[in-house]
This record gives sequence, C-alpha cells and structure tokens, in this order.
Amino acid sequence: MNPPLPQQPQAVLFDAYGTLFDVYSIRALAEQTFPGFGERLSLLWRDKQIEYSRLRSMSDHYRPFWEITRDALRFSASGLGLALGTGSEERLMAQYRHLEPFAENRDVLASLARRGVRAGILSNGDPDMLESAVSHAGFAAWLNPVLSVQATGRFKTDPATYALGPAALGLAAADILFVSSNGWDAIGATWFGYTTLWVNRAGLPLEQLGTNPARIGASLRDVLEFFPVIEEAS
Ligand code: LAC
Repeated sequence: MNPPLPQQPQAVLFDAYGTLFDVYSIRALAEQTFPGFGERLSLLWRDKQIEYSRLRSMSDHYRPFWEITRDALRFSASGLGLALGTGSEERLMAQYRHLEPFAENRDVLASLARRGVRAGILSNGDPDMLESAVSHAGFAAWLNPVLSVQATGRFKTDPATYALGPAALGLAAADILFVSSNGWDAIGATWFGYTTLWVNRAGLPLEQLGTNPARIGASLRDVLEFFPVIEEAS
C-alpha cells in the first residue's frame, strides 16, 4: 500500500521516453527490418542509449541525445550481427521522432488540464526530438514547460538536470510530482527531492538503491490520485 504523502504536489513533470512515449513501439519496425531480431534490437538499443548517456555525463563528454541514440543503434545492430545500411538506420532513427504514446496518456493529460494542474516534461531528449514526439502524439497543448537536459549538458540522474524543474516552475522540488517509468529515474528524482511516482508498467523489481519512490503505480492513471477532483467537468 502506498503511504500518505507529507504534502500535496502542485505540478507534474513527466519523463518522456518510456513514460509518455513507448520506446519499444519501435520494435515493429525493427522486426520488419530485421526479422527475428525486433525485440532484441529494441531492448539492446534502449539499454545502450541509457548507458552512453551516463558514461558521457560521468566523463563530461556530453553529446546530444539524438547522436547517442544513433551511436547506440549502430552498436546494437553490430553486436547482434545485423547489417545496418544507411536506409534502415535512417528509418529506425526517424521512428524515434514518432514514438507511440501509451494508450492511457491522452486521457490522463487531458484530465490533469481539467483539474487545473500544470504538467510538463523533463527529459534526456534534445528539444527538437521532444517537440516532434510531443506534437506527433498531439500532446502539445497539455505540456508546458518541455525541459531538456541540453540546458545543462548533463544527463539524468545528474542533480543539475533535475534542478531545471524547480527553476522553471518556481516551486520547491517536493511540491512537484516527478513521474517516470524508468525506476532509476524515479529514484534519482527522489534523491533530488521531488515527490515521485514510478509507473511500473512492466512489473519490474524495485531498483536496489536504498531509496524508494514516494509511490509506485502501474499506469499513468495513477498520477490522477495525487490530484483529487474537486469538481471535474465531463
Ligand atoms: C528521458 C529518458 C530517461 O526521457 O528516457 O529522459
């Protein structure tokens, strides 16, 4: 059971990839391009992308997320023995700008807006990648600000990057609900001081990092529990 919260958050920041947009929705195109490898390629690609983001931040070698996403794709294809020509690389990369949102997300964002709750994004993605994904999903009216780590050149879980949220919203971190489906991101945000929700869609075990998110949910709908309806128009 989730414990009661010490205070009610006043705004929401969402992680983008994996939380609002399904990074594994790319698996269908990957499977079409490399039959029998779609699942493995999409998993390895995502893991490498995150690994490179951390490596580059730790060593102070920032490159835009688009570039490390491409580098991760090249490594993953090569690791699986797949011949990635220019055409397939471009098609797979282009798909990253048009990731499918999870089914419930549209309703949740619309509902937050009706409840008068400000919602935005804080993501590793580059501003133009985020803009494409947000507008492809039709979410632009519901997300402001859209914050990118490009402003700090430090990927999550760097505190300088989590600090972008309170600075942009003019709120203390504890007054902002940070929502991520990436367990490590939910914990990094908890360390920083946000009130956090880990949306554990995949039923994964909790990361063993000695800190738990404030709450754990199973879909984005669990965000709405933080903002009880006073009177919601239908
Ligand atoms: C992001 C990565 C963590 O959107 O998926 O920041």
